[in-house]
Amino acid sequence: MNLVLVARREEQMESVAEPLRVRHGIETTLIGADLSEREAPARIHAELAERGVKVDYLINNAGASSGNLLKDRDFVVHARYLELMVLSVAHMCHLFVPGMQERGFGRVINVSSVAARVPRAGGCLYGPSKAYLVHMSEELHLTVRGDGVNVCALCPGFTHTEFHAVAGSLEMKANSPKILWYDADVVVREGLRAVERGKPVQISGRIYRFVDPFMQSVWTRWLFRRMAS
Ligand SMILES: NC(=O)c1ccc[n+]([C@@H]2O[C@H](COP(=O)([O-])OP(=O)(O)OC[C@H]3O[C@@H](n4cnc5c(N)ncnc54)[C@H](OP(=O)(O)O)[C@@H]3O)[C@@H](O)[C@H]2O)c1
Repeated sequence: MNLVLVARREEQMESVAEPLRVRHGIETTLIGADLSEREAPARIHAELAERGVKVDYLINNAGASSGNLLKDRDFVVHARYLELMVLSVAHMCHLFVPGMQERGFGRVINVSSVAARVPRAGGCLYGPSKAYLVHMSEELHLTVRGDGVNVCALCPGFTHTEFHAVAGSLEMKANSPKILWYDADVVVREGLRAVERGKPVQISGRIYRFVDPFMQSVWTRWLFRRMAS
């Protein structure tokens, strides 16, 4: 498949794109954009329309760890964060899914997290923003699946990427059990398989799939409430 890559660091994207072009002959279009800016999704959509690129697979993957809703007192920072994590995903779906419906084919993966699966005391930003993606994806899937469009919220657990270095949590990573960590290609493979099968929510990683039903139980929620009080 030909690819459109979107991120802020264009050099990084180029280093991903080059071997794809050279070794696999994949056409790659790179768009530098900051998805925490309100107008970014519309700019991406307009640029692709101008180039005549039709998007059949939309992967809303960009994301980062959060600050703390109460302790960090600059709300503008939180608003930009929620723009990236929540609004940009809704906006990308708003712009790209109607074209998929018209063509009778489309696949959307919204990268959420196992952090969406149970509320805990904490920053009150990351988990809730990912929970929105689960709920929105389920509802969107029900709305458009009759038009040949499948939508899936992909919920990974700990994954080896740059995420924890960017978040400044490499020490936590080093101290946590290795068994909880998956490679990104496992997450990607499971996500693509799930959206193809029409699953609206995919928990990624065997361990996390085993734990998830317990996370959903009223007893776990009761325990988290007790731990927080
Ligand atoms: N790693 C984990 O343990 C884990 C677990 C569960 C869920 N997730 C989710 O998986 C997704 C991918 O994260 P990752 O683990 O691959 O982390 P990562 O290695 O830090 O990658 C994050 C990606 O998002 C892009 N990005 C970040 N902020 C952006 C912005 N404002 N505008 C445009 N692009 C932006 C980054 O590119 P630029 O910096 O160049 O913009 C980068 O390509 C995220 O949604 C994350 O919440 C990760």
